[in-house]
Amino acid sequence: MTEAQNEPSVTIEALMDEQRVFPPSKEFVAQANINAASVYEDGKDYETFWENQADSLLWRKKWTKTLDWSNPPFAKWFVDGKLNVTESCLDRHLENNGDKVAYYFVGEPGDERTVTYRQLYEEVCQLANGLASLGVSKGDRVAIYMGMTVELPVALLACARLGAPHSVVFGGFSSDALMDRINDAEAKVLITCDESWRNGNKIALKSYADSALEKTPSIEHVVVVKRTGTAVPMIQGRDIYYHELIKDQPKERPATETDSEDTLFILYTSGTTGKPKGIVHTTGGYLLGASFTHKNVFDIKDDDVYWCTADIGWVTGHSYIVYGPLANGTTSVLYEGVPNYPDKDRYWAIIEKYKVNQLYTAPTSIRTFMKWGTEFPERHDMSSLRLIGTVGEPINPEAWIWYNKYIGGGRAPIVDTWWQTETGHIMISPLPGVTTTKPGSATVPLPGIGADIVDEEGNPVPWGGGGYLVLTHPWPGMLRTIFKDPQRFVDTYWGRFSKPEENRWVYFAGDGAKRDVDGYYWLLGRVDDVMNVSGHRISTLEVESALVDHQDVAEAAVVGRNDPITGQAIAAFVTLKGHVQGNEQLIAELREHVAAKIGKIARPASIVFTDELPKTRSGKIMRRLLRDISEQRQLGDVTTLANADVVNDIAARAAAMQTSQED
Ligand code: PRX
Repeated sequence: MTEAQNEPSVTIEALMDEQRVFPPSKEFVAQANINAASVYEDGKDYETFWENQADSLLWRKKWTKTLDWSNPPFAKWFVDGKLNVTESCLDRHLENNGDKVAYYFVGEPGDERTVTYRQLYEEVCQLANGLASLGVSKGDRVAIYMGMTVELPVALLACARLGAPHSVVFGGFSSDALMDRINDAEAKVLITCDESWRNGNKIALKSYADSALEKTPSIEHVVVVKRTGTAVPMIQGRDIYYHELIKDQPKERPATETDSEDTLFILYTSGTTGKPKGIVHTTGGYLLGASFTHKNVFDIKDDDVYWCTADIGWVTGHSYIVYGPLANGTTSVLYEGVPNYPDKDRYWAIIEKYKVNQLYTAPTSIRTFMKWGTEFPERHDMSSLRLIGTVGEPINPEAWIWYNKYIGGGRAPIVDTWWQTETGHIMISPLPGVTTTKPGSATVPLPGIGADIVDEEGNPVPWGGGGYLVLTHPWPGMLRTIFKDPQRFVDTYWGRFSKPEENRWVYFAGDGAKRDVDGYYWLLGRVDDVMNVSGHRISTLEVESALVDHQDVAEAAVVGRNDPITGQAIAAFVTLKGHVQGNEQLIAELREHVAAKIGKIARPASIVFTDELPKTRSGKIMRRLLRDISEQRQLGDVTTLANADVVNDIAARAAAMQTSQED
């Protein structure tokens, strides 16, 4: 292994040095849900391929056309099909599998709750009835801001039962971020909790929500789940406790019929501007994509216990804790807290106790586990694990090998799954019973998915070369638009490489990638001004606007620099207003300011004060140079700079002033 392989920044040299291959074992192939390579051939006729899968869902009325792509890039899948996703996720399991466990809930403090499919169905119906009594009906948006308890999937499903799109806002986001998202979606109701547990601490979600609610005119009611039991202020007429809302509600509620193209949810994600994008997903195609990939990428069997460690506040939780697994009638673990509470073996203890068969987690976590050492996984019997997966960011070969050895016992195949909030479900990933894996590569597009790598002009790059990752044809779970901003949808994703005059529509993912001579994809990270910190997308502009919002800041530039654990870390360069002196206290204040504006995940790991930012003669900040400075690289070409001498000054200051990010 070269030294570069120890770097988390998946440098192309390191990846291209990687020669190890891991073919699926005979035993795995023999039992795999998909074990014939011919499936990739079948996937080439992608419309037929997806149509053939679609009977796996429960439809009220069959579609008349599989795909309508007559008005690109606006796609319609399963045109005229009618369904309610909760009937696929709940009702149809009741007769034969009502007593089967849907979720083993594990609370961070140690409390546990087992929820069967019937219990889940009943609670979803009760909450749907409760929400309806508050005036929620088809098409109304409901915001959800909660910790990871059973009531969270219940809340999503209750909205879906009513045909009311949900907009989940990750519980780590700040009041301001919640407010922006509520206002953009014009949500009518907010579902939150008193507090949530995180790392042994109580997180005051209701209190954060109350601050947001001062400026959210659309919200009529707030439903509050009691999690920690701490008394929180309740506003009469507006706020109601969840348990009170549902207690007298019937445990049945007919599902509202929705069209295959009605909105199931909106999920906000960072783009290259300061304003998050409301990604819109619909029902039929999304559920098909989520359930098909869940079943076949994770090789799910009826009696498996599956665990995705993501938070439902992100798309991974939507597709692979809620909709995919429930559509497949799977038993999942739902864990509330952090991996090191009360000790660094919490995940492994859960795997041992529940005999988890599939684990799906993030490379950042794996690198953290590596740092903690093997003694923690070695305390537990994890022989139940049959397959392990990763998502959210590139995994460096060293972490892949560690994961394979210490978590997968050298026996469980690894599925490195590439996808995005926008794609709705996994796009590039091994099929574990078919695909030979290579450490660090997400391997090849799934059957029914079209990908390519193109150059600046949009021309395909031959195998062996690198460029921009694009998706070449529609897929069932694709985003349909950006909420209230269809033009941004067209421009952001379809503007760069499509050739409308030739009727060629190509989706630009925003990632750079290389494809090796075997056609394997090696993801190289974002090529736009979006950072990926611990697998979470944060736009440089959002952090810059939060910094500039502080009274002492004149100007700010933010870049993502490579970090051995989090993939990228946020490095900020700030010029202060004339009279202000930069010091440690101001650094701390600015970091907290960003936390308050966006959330703790967006706090800069380092802040460097500088008199000027490096700019081109046209006034554009040269982020590339700042990235070089942050990573202590030889500085690139500075000849286009208007203020070239400022660079050396910043580099000197950067070396002297680095703060480290708190956990
Ligand atoms: O840059 C890619 C990275 O995460 C981005 C999508 O982020 P988000 O919408 O938050 O969804 C994360 C979970 C699906 C992508 O544009 N990414 C995601 N998975 C991988 C990845 N990069 C490399 N390898 C992956 N497996």
